[in-house]
Amino acid sequence: MSNVHQIVHPLIQHKMAIVRNVETGPKEFRELVDEIALLMAYEVTRDIVLEDVDVETPMGLAKCQMIAGKKIGVIPILRAGLGMVNGMLRLIPAAKVGHIGVYRDPETLRPVEYYCKLPSDISERDLIVVDPMLATGGSAVAAIRFIKERGGKNIKLMVLIAAPEGIAAVQAAHPDVDIFVAAIDEKLDSRGYIVPGLGDAGDRLFGTK
Ligand code: PRP
Ligand code: URA
Repeated sequence: MSNVHQIVHPLIQHKMAIVRNVETGPKEFRELVDEIALLMAYEVTRDIVLEDVDVETPMGLAKCQMIAGKKIGVIPILRAGLGMVNGMLRLIPAAKVGHIGVYRDPETLRPVEYYCKLPSDISERDLIVVDPMLATGGSAVAAIRFIKERGGKNIKLMVLIAAPEGIAAVQAAHPDVDIFVAAIDEKLDSRGYIVPGLGDAGDRLFGTK
């Protein structure tokens, strides 16, 4: 699992415990997903290239480093990925945001594409695809394929909870994509839900059930 990075920071693990809890309501759920995304973004961007800059302080010249020209794109998989965008943008305000609409057909569990709008300069950006859940992997595999078909090259996937099946599917289809997770759970149930997981992320974010 060399391209899988589990982020085990105590703040993330603490918030994951609350977000999983069946008693956590939509307001708190949204806030937690946002905060976890922000904390994960800190790790996911650890390899951003820096360049040396001289900064004039009130006391003299400081040798500093700033992010080099490389640009970042954040791509949520609709709907639930939307809950992770603001957390990312608070750390990376200059990032552009693309959207990919994919939902799982409840019968076949196969991904159905319904929307795609990406930044025009996607091939020049480091791209971070975000979605709280990686279950069968069908949605993420399809979303990453669309991005590559439109010229995206440097792609990372960032999820809160992954099932082993989803990780294996992404690794098989897109071995070049690094996967960042806060938790790897035990298995999928017969309906393709992650166990123990957190339930349906989209419904819990938007109160649709
Ligand atoms: C959820 C989740 C992922 C997908 C994961 O979305 O947000 O996109 O399922 O499952 P998979 O790995 O088996 O594809 P869902 O299809 O429920 O759509 P929604 O976000 O619109 O609710
Ligand atoms: N999608 C979700 O929102 N939750 C799961 O457990 C699996 C897919």
